[in-house]
Amino acid sequence: MGELRVYDMIKKKRDGGSLTREEIAFLISGYCKGEIPDYQMSALCMAIYFRGMSAEETAYLTMEIRDSGEILDAEGIEGIRVDKHSTGGVGDKTSLIVSPIVASLGLTVAKMSGRGLGHTGGTVDKLEAIPGFRTEMTREEFVLAVRQAGLAIVGQSGELAPADKLLYALRDVTATVDSMPLIASSIMGKKLAANDDCIVLDVKTGSGAFMKSLDDSIALGTLMVDIAKRAGKRAVALVTDMDAPLGSAIGNALEVQEAVEVLRGGGAEDLRELCVSLASQMLFLAQGEAISVCEERVRESLSSGAAFKAFLAMVRAQGGDVSFVENPEKLCQAPYRHTVCAPTDGYITRVNTEDYGLASLLLGAGRNKKEDRIDPWAGIRLHAKTGDSVRRGDPIATLYASDDALFAHAAEVLLAATQIGEQPQRRPLIYRVIG
Ligand code: URA
Repeated sequence: MGELRVYDMIKKKRDGGSLTREEIAFLISGYCKGEIPDYQMSALCMAIYFRGMSAEETAYLTMEIRDSGEILDAEGIEGIRVDKHSTGGVGDKTSLIVSPIVASLGLTVAKMSGRGLGHTGGTVDKLEAIPGFRTEMTREEFVLAVRQAGLAIVGQSGELAPADKLLYALRDVTATVDSMPLIASSIMGKKLAANDDCIVLDVKTGSGAFMKSLDDSIALGTLMVDIAKRAGKRAVALVTDMDAPLGSAIGNALEVQEAVEVLRGGGAEDLRELCVSLASQMLFLAQGEAISVCEERVRESLSSGAAFKAFLAMVRAQGGDVSFVENPEKLCQAPYRHTVCAPTDGYITRVNTEDYGLASLLLGAGRNKKEDRIDPWAGIRLHAKTGDSVRRGDPIATLYASDDALFAHAAEVLLAATQIGEQPQRRPLIYRVIG
């Protein structure tokens, strides 16, 4: 075999060929060491975007991303470790709810989560809206928090899957995020490095997801479950609706507030039902009981207050001020509010969910660049969602911000993203369970 050259690999992929494991290993290790420049890696990502990758190539890429850093050493963490990972959405606060549910039922959650990027939110940003909550911990502190509360959620450590960190930042600025093999290897590379026993994947589909079409989302879920199986992990993927925001809150503190509503046995129906399904699948993978029994136990954890108690224990163990969780109205501190009203009578027939995420970002709840600071109090509470009937002048959303000059543009984006028509439409919450 002659000397490996990046140029030849870009050309091979550009022309529709397949990369070997050796070539993929060479690319990932060279990029991590700084020996392969961004311009060559960008060209390769674009070639992958257009030409795709076989299941085998995607699995090789995933394993190289996993092996680019440490694999989490679970020493000191007891029990069956389970995780749930979403491909990214708007108003998706399910990690804040399913993690304490399954912890209250005896499973262990030692979770590394991401921050929001683009129009999607991130669990770490949401948790940081609770004053004092620490998402950066040493390994010893993390293990102690898991032992104290049965669950801990921290930010992605720099040592796990560093290749993904580099590649994701590059993809974000080269329009190559929404590529199936690149998403699958990015998510699974990180998940395999986190070394959990069971993984439930929430693959979003619709206008607020990276994969907008149902067929692509099913293919993505199938690919990720296949990769998990090749790596010897138990995994299942649920393809779920992201053609409307999940629940009614978008924005960090507002989403924690809504998560607490569900953990106290109430909350929005779509959010609660999706959390029940995801948590039941986590329990099913870990313990193998019938899914109907798992679902019963999950509902009992919510109605008895056990899940909420586990959430409080996590907040306490990670240094958060529990008074904000016990009195969640304290999480609504934005100094300015603005009501957006329906311009006409009818039904909300469709919303562009990505633009709802962007409206929240414009209010300060997200970042335009990775280094931007977010406003924890900013965001949106929806009063009407897809399928609801509205009359002209009815409030459809309340916007929250720390600067009232931000309202005009965000309200314009939100209204333009809301279709009001004559036929009510509802979409299923869960389209497919894979694996
Ligand atoms: N989430 C990730 O972690 N990676 C992607 O590529 C997309 C969503």
